Amino acid sequence: EKGGYDYFMLKEIAEQPKAVADTLLGRIDPSGSLTLDEVRISPPELREVDKVVIVACGTAFHAGLIAKYAIEHFTRIPCEVELASEFRYRDPILDGRSLVIAISQSGETMDTLMALRHAREQGSKVLAICNTNGSTIPRESDAVLYTHAGPEVAVASTKAFLTQLVACYLVALYLGQVRGTKWGDEIQAAIKDLSRISEDVERVLETMEPVRALARTLATKNTVLFLGRHVGYPVALEGALKLKELAYMHAEGFAAGELKHGPIALIEEDVPVVVVVPSPRGRSVLHDKIVSNIQEIRARGARTIAIAEEGDEAVVPYADHLIRVPVTPTLLQPLVATVPLQVFACELATARGNEVDQPRNLAKSVTVE
Ligand code: F6R
Repeated sequence: EKGGYDYFMLKEIAEQPKAVADTLLGRIDPSGSLTLDEVRISPPELREVDKVVIVACGTAFHAGLIAKYAIEHFTRIPCEVELASEFRYRDPILDGRSLVIAISQSGETMDTLMALRHAREQGSKVLAICNTNGSTIPRESDAVLYTHAGPEVAVASTKAFLTQLVACYLVALYLGQVRGTKWGDEIQAAIKDLSRISEDVERVLETMEPVRALARTLATKNTVLFLGRHVGYPVALEGALKLKELAYMHAEGFAAGELKHGPIALIEEDVPVVVVVPSPRGRSVLHDKIVSNIQEIRARGARTIAIAEEGDEAVVPYADHLIRVPVTPTLLQPLVATVPLQVFACELATARGNEVDQPRNLAKSVTVE
């Protein structure tokens, strides 16, 4: 059932291009616009929405953090993202015009379920993004957009995460389409970009051997740091989470702009720092700032591992190790940049003799509080 792979996690990483394509299937119509019939919240209701709040846990929370960029960009509606375990015990300001999005692979996570109940009590509509048909979270929501990742067996979430990102972009673009916030052309172009992204995920998977080799050389390290900016920041958080849960190493993700406000004190000789480098096109100011961050940490002895777009030459002089990812639009970069981090964590876990599919102390779905 592992399909020739040593671990379910490896199989599920390899299934990502298909999972991404399946999640798009039937949702883009031939004219190039979106039809999300399952989202049973009517267009007039969606036009009334004045606030979006995303609640989730763990990896699904990271998908939510990335979704915020796309939702605010394409809809101009303010979007907050909160850990379900925090949200449920707050007194959040919500009403009938708030749209709450609950993201969950299993559909059974207790904190996320409690958060959505909390939102519905206040009259908000809840849209679930979920991978498990008929599970509790979609059953208790007003609407559901299913991800089509197929069953995810490994405890560490991989393909579910990528499909959560796809579903979040679909929601952002659909809201933009329904509300007419952006020029139709921009939405249509973004839908087209999204429809091609599974090929890029496929391409990145073909180049993972050097990432594995690199991971093996780091098996005796105690700490790995991850840096990112903009949508690369949640990718850094996700890279760190994967490493903690699988390799049992201390790993932390930082917003690169926060380095000088504290974390740079952690940089010492030979500490590995993975940097998610934004595209030099588009928001080039972010790219330039990250390049100077890489220079700064390298000057202090860090071993720099850059995840950078093909053709980005500016990082070359400062990267001790360079992991290339295909050129994508900025908002879609997390779909390709996360893949090497999954492979990296999986390989480090193996090198350290850990059980990849069943990390210690963790359960696939957390139905307790
Ligand atoms: C990390 C991981 C967990 C889950 C979290 C939420 O690899 O798998 O952090 O993402 O427990 O689970 P779901 O999405 O089922 O609500």
